[in-house]
Amino acid sequence: MKKRNVKVHFGNLILVIFVIGIFAYGGFYVYKNFLSDEENVGSNPVESNNKVDSKVNKKLKELGYSNSDIEIIEKNLSSDVIDKIEEKYDDLASFSSVKYFHIENIERYQTLSDSSSYEPEEVVMRVNTQIDRDFYTDVKIVEDPDDPFVLVNKYFEVPQDYEPSDLVSVGNGQKMRSEAAEHVNKLLKDINADGLYLQAQSGFRSIDLQTRLYNNYVSRDGVAEADTYSARPGSSEHHTGLAIDLSHDGTLEETFENTKQFEWLEKNAHKYGLILRYPKDKVYMTGYMYEPWHYRYVGVEVATLIKNEGITYEEYCVKYRGLY
Ligand code: DAL
Ligand code: ZN
Repeated sequence: MKKRNVKVHFGNLILVIFVIGIFAYGGFYVYKNFLSDEENVGSNPVESNNKVDSKVNKKLKELGYSNSDIEIIEKNLSSDVIDKIEEKYDDLASFSSVKYFHIENIERYQTLSDSSSYEPEEVVMRVNTQIDRDFYTDVKIVEDPDDPFVLVNKYFEVPQDYEPSDLVSVGNGQKMRSEAAEHVNKLLKDINADGLYLQAQSGFRSIDLQTRLYNNYVSRDGVAEADTYSARPGSSEHHTGLAIDLSHDGTLEETFENTKQFEWLEKNAHKYGLILRYPKDKVYMTGYMYEPWHYRYVGVEVATLIKNEGITYEEYCVKYRGLY
């Protein structure tokens, strides 16, 4: 009995080993397949990419690009993008290395590059901000004037009939959109607590007011001169309800930069979400003379970033909001 029992157990053991063997093999098979699936992320698509690559590679060769340029272009641009290239552009490889390169602008990048000595990064930035074009050419109406990050300048205007729906009082009788007004009111209070007087001189401006102002300046100084300091109707940031002119004595003069108030603003404006919108060294980009008094509300986070990077709002829009 005892012996027979052992025999039965031995038979079971063989069976168990057999079954384990089957499972182990099956498991290994599945694992192997899983691995090759994982590898698909890299290997198989690379294989199929290679097919696509060889197509775009051939195309770039046919267009006359050198092997070294092709290597850079293929590294920087996807096949879909390369597919859109229909010509040989001398500096495409260099442009493609710039982070905010857009194939749609390639013609303009090359044109600007040919007529200047700007580095590729500068070329791409200038074209994406539109400043390769004369001010007020190809002006687009912004899709969403209510967007708190709306860019309004000599290329992007708000619809003529736009008026923000959340205007509230700021300072002594001016108006701004509510979040901006809240921050500016706090700023006026805080600078006052530091013993300095500052007033909100000009906030939201209706299209009618901007039209009257601009036309008066034009009849006084002529269009070319007026354009250096006053926005054409629709193109003023004041129209968005997000801009404010700050003054220590009721005037708006460049000498404001020599005041204690300006010094305070330089140090603190970003803490209230405000940026100096028309800096001295960026006239070529903003299209406006230096305005130490004009601030734009963009929120504390963005204002801090813009201050730290020392960039204009246009540059911020290219680098962080995909403007091109
Ligand atoms: N002074 C600024 C540029 C405006 O008119 O909006
Ligand atoms: Zn202003």
